[in-house]
Amino acid sequence: MSTPTITRRSTPADLKARKGQTPIVCLTAYTAPMARLLDSHVDFLLVGDSLGMVLYGFDSTLPVTLDMMIAHGAAVMRGSSRSCVIVDLPFGSYQASPAQAFATSARVMAETGAAGVKLEGGTEMAETIKFLTERGIPVLAHIGLMPQSVNTLGGFKVQGRTEASQAKVMADAHAITKAGAFAVVVEGVTEPVGKAITEAIAIPTVGIGASAACDGQVLVTEDLLGMLPDMKAPKFVKRYADIGTTIAAAAAKYAEEVKARTFPGPEHTYRSDK
Ligand code: KIV
Repeated sequence: MSTPTITRRSTPADLKARKGQTPIVCLTAYTAPMARLLDSHVDFLLVGDSLGMVLYGFDSTLPVTLDMMIAHGAAVMRGSSRSCVIVDLPFGSYQASPAQAFATSARVMAETGAAGVKLEGGTEMAETIKFLTERGIPVLAHIGLMPQSVNTLGGFKVQGRTEASQAKVMADAHAITKAGAFAVVVEGVTEPVGKAITEAIAIPTVGIGASAACDGQVLVTEDLLGMLPDMKAPKFVKRYADIGTTIAAAAAKYAEEVKARTFPGPEHTYRSDK
């Protein structure tokens, strides 16, 4: 009798152990069918609060609620079986205090089954990251361009262009590492900064607009698929498909056939004898 292959989900510890190894592959997922399609191709699925802009049509991630993140996190867990699933903590659900962050994270993990949470912030969130990791919550940090700070950063701007900004991002990288994050998303920084951080810290860097020097990469799936034709994609997005055009063409064809009464055809129609 052959032994069944038991596939297990990768864990935050597996991801942490990939520092300096083969690059970590991550994509965002917000729904069960998308998670199912991506699951065997990535190391981890990020239920990013980018869903506020991508799915809900908000101008920023700020209006995203904890209930939204939990509903989408649970859907992604149902649609996947081998990827590690990490859920973003939305704006306002963790910044007030370590205790608030713990209560939020515990709810996310209990109600979704995800393996950990992601939160934005460097030195200012180090105490919170330490508090969470010491209490059983794996934390993926997020530094550099932090979309939840769009109003204080003055827009979605590349970080690390000045010496002061470089020093801040590097200090953030060291602080979150010391606090116990298992990995860090580094977003929107110049190549030298992405490289310097990756070389300086002991945990994997997962870059998005942070150069190929990082230990892994993440992209918003709908960007990669070309599903957001109305949104101006940042420079770091590479489109691997043009699904938006395919969807529009399919909808146009359907509309044409409905109007011409060629859809539904006999093969889509229930007859009384069959
Ligand atoms: O919200 C998100 O999807 C993210 C990734 C783009 C890193 O934070």
